Amino acid sequence: MNKGFIFDLDGVIVDTAKYHYLAWKKIADELKFNFTLEHNEQLKGVSRLRSLDILLEIGGMNKTENERIRLASEKNKFYLELIKNLDSNDLLPRSRSFIIDAKDKGIKIALGSASKNAAYILKKLGIAHLFDARIDGTMVSNAKPDPEVFIKGAELLSLKPSNCLVFEDAQAGIDAAKNAGMKCIGIGSSNILHSADMVVGGLDQISVLEALNILKN
Ligand code: G6P
Ligand code: MG
Repeated sequence: MNKGFIFDLDGVIVDTAKYHYLAWKKIADELKFNFTLEHNEQLKGVSRLRSLDILLEIGGMNKTENERIRLASEKNKFYLELIKNLDSNDLLPRSRSFIIDAKDKGIKIALGSASKNAAYILKKLGIAHLFDARIDGTMVSNAKPDPEVFIKGAELLSLKPSNCLVFEDAQAGIDAAKNAGMKCIGIGSSNILHSADMVVGGLDQISVLEALNILKN
C-alpha cells in the first residue's frame, strides 16, 4: 500500500500537552503575568523559541536574545522534570494500538513533531520501533505552520504528500499539513480546530479504515 500516516506527538500520541502548558505557566508566573489554557492553544505545535516569543507577546514583554535563550532553556528544564517519570501509561487512549492496526494494514508510519525531545519521549513510551520514519524539532529549520516537517516525513516514507494523512492536535499543525498538500485529522474540539478534514476527540474515536477513507476522498 502506498499510503502513510504522519502523527504529531504531543497531544496526539502522548498526554504531554499539559506538561508543556505547566512549564510555560511557570515561566509566566516568574515574569508575573497571567497565562491561561486559552492562551496556550497558540503555543501548541509551535517550536520552543517561537512559543517563547508568543508567550512574551501575551505578557506584553520584550527580552534580549540572551534572556530569550535562558528562558527557553529554563522552560525545557521544568518540562523535562515534569516528564521524567513518563511511561506507557501516559500514552493517549488507543494511540499505540491505532498505529499497530495501521501498520498491519501496510500503512507506513512517521512521526512529525516540532519537539526536540521527541526521540527521548518515544523511547520512554517504548514505541520508537513502531515508526518507519521520524522527523522532529532537531531536523527542521521552519516551525509549523510551515510544511517542512511533513514534507520531509513524506520524503522519508517515499510517498507523495497527497498519499499522507496527518494527525494533529494544534491549529499550527493542521495549517502545516494543509500547506504540505496533505489531508488532516484534527484531534481535539471542532470549536478550536479549523480547516481539518475531520475532527475527532482522540484516536479512540476513529478506526484505521475510516481514516483511510478520508485519504481516498
Ligand atoms: C510540540 C508541542 C509544543 C512544543 C514544541 C517544541 O509541538 O506541541 O508545545 O513547544 O513541540 O517542543 P520541545 O520539546 O522541543 O520544547
Ligand atoms: Mg501536538
